[in-house]
Amino acid sequence: MARRDPHSYNDDTQLETETLALTARIDFATRVMHAEATLTFKRPGGGALDLDTRDLAIESVADQDGRELAFTLHPAEPFLGARLAITLPAATRAIKLRYRTSPDASALQWLEPAQTRGGKLPYLFSQCQACHARSIIPLQDTPRLRIRYTAELAIPRTLTCVMAAADRGRTEDGELAIHRFEMPQPIPPYLFAFAVGDLVSKDLSPRCRVWAEPAQVEAAAYEFADVEAMIGAAEALFGPYDWERFDILTMPPSFPYGGMENPRLTFLTPTVIAGDRSLVSVVAHELAHSWTGNLVTNANAEHFWLNEGFTMYAERRIVEALDGVEMASLHAALGRRELDESIERFKERPAMTRLRTDMSGIDPDDGYSLIPYEKGYFFLCALEAVVGRPAFETWLRGYLQTFRFGAITTDDFLANIEQGLPGALAKANASTWIDGEGVPASALPPRSKRLDAIESLHGKAPTAQAAAAWTATEWQLYLETVPRPASEELLTGLDAQFHLTASTNYDVLVSWLTLALHSGHHAVLPRVNEVLAAVGRMKYLRPLYTALANDPRTKAGAIETFAKLRAGYHPIARQMVEGVLGR
Ligand code: BES
Ligand code: ZN
Repeated sequence: MARRDPHSYNDDTQLETETLALTARIDFATRVMHAEATLTFKRPGGGALDLDTRDLAIESVADQDGRELAFTLHPAEPFLGARLAITLPAATRAIKLRYRTSPDASALQWLEPAQTRGGKLPYLFSQCQACHARSIIPLQDTPRLRIRYTAELAIPRTLTCVMAAADRGRTEDGELAIHRFEMPQPIPPYLFAFAVGDLVSKDLSPRCRVWAEPAQVEAAAYEFADVEAMIGAAEALFGPYDWERFDILTMPPSFPYGGMENPRLTFLTPTVIAGDRSLVSVVAHELAHSWTGNLVTNANAEHFWLNEGFTMYAERRIVEALDGVEMASLHAALGRRELDESIERFKERPAMTRLRTDMSGIDPDDGYSLIPYEKGYFFLCALEAVVGRPAFETWLRGYLQTFRFGAITTDDFLANIEQGLPGALAKANASTWIDGEGVPASALPPRSKRLDAIESLHGKAPTAQAAAAWTATEWQLYLETVPRPASEELLTGLDAQFHLTASTNYDVLVSWLTLALHSGHHAVLPRVNEVLAAVGRMKYLRPLYTALANDPRTKAGAIETFAKLRAGYHPIARQMVEGVLGR
């Protein structure tokens, strides 16, 4: 037997699932999904079968003819969940599992009406990456194995269900509405996704539509109006878009990520709706995953950089195509700063700063950082610099073509690039990037005139004239370069002149608030508490809680604030803040 994924009980000598048929009734009153999942195998067979589950109550298991099969649900292990062991009689083609989920299912967040925009109806959404699909479906929860699926979800008729799949219609039956979906392209289980709420949509182009609660749909449609141009730019770079539709779901504010690349239906935090389209690189990122990640998938979390590093490269190529090379360089410069900060944060666990990591015994949500993103990005830039852009692009397209709808390891990548661009790996010092800690000294620093202008301020306040031309990215870069602690005089002056505490661009706002907190500028505390209560995006919660926890004058207050807000945060965000506060 061989387990090839440290985060799954899957054994590669056992049968593999080809399709999933899911029917479920979603009960908001008890926060439970009552479900039936049919797993059909690639070929008939028998013997042991291990499935991943977490907090599932398994009611019965039967074969394709309805014959009951014995099963053992083993005790749960940390972050892996519980192994469901079934012995299949010879020539089993499919199994049907009846089960229900727990109100604490790690993939789900159930929202009270008060936690939504409209305030009247409840909301439910899933977030399966890294390994939470098993808390809603018993399956082989490893990205190495792709599945196609159909789903039939019964929900209260006052609500609407959307899914990262093709819509196959809605029928109503008494108090319930039944939504049918089909995912014709095979996906890794972490891309299974749905949401239920008071949702409406607006078309942006023949293949793009934005979904949101009624009160937000116009703002979302404005913010994401250019998405079709983005897809065009991405197709010109990486080849045809393979998923037919690219819809966007604007999430409730507690969504813990900036975005999640669920195929056909990207989930986006409402914090990207700044009103001026200044944060849409998050859309470029999730769109880029349609190639890097969703088409070519990392076989397990040890090769996560293949997913996110390539996506950062692709994201910045899209930004460059649409907004020019200066903008892309500014994004890369910010990325470099974030990379250095992340490496500092992991200084006690330096092995986690490698691109290829040993993840056995590590909860992927715990090990999450921007290192695979940004170190991966700078590594790919180093490779590009060695061979030149045209050759790199040709190789990249071939790579995407070769491995499309596949799952690969770092070794698969290495073999492919060595064949396509012989000698490039050695010239770029690939092994120090992949298996070395930190960032190689040879990493190319992003350069641009606008970046030089910011750096030449050495943290001093910009003139009104200079700042008037700054984009949100430049503001963020500037705020990141101000040495900490900054003087009270500088901070008061900046806020009086540029109204940073009142900024509605969350990236700028949180950079500002973090700088202020690290400098003991406690005038911003009310605004900090407002942000902590308004959003659950971890990118914002982490630096704010960290800054509060690092100052003995604000630590107790932060613990109190968290106690009050904890119930409204997503389970993954809760776990992260608990880590930061040492609870
Ligand atoms: N797939 C990730 C989000 C993710 C990663 C969820 C790991 C769970 C586990 C998504 O594509 C992502 O990277 N989002 C970023 C946005 C971005 C622009 C870097 C985020 O959430 O901040
Ligand atoms: Zn990503």
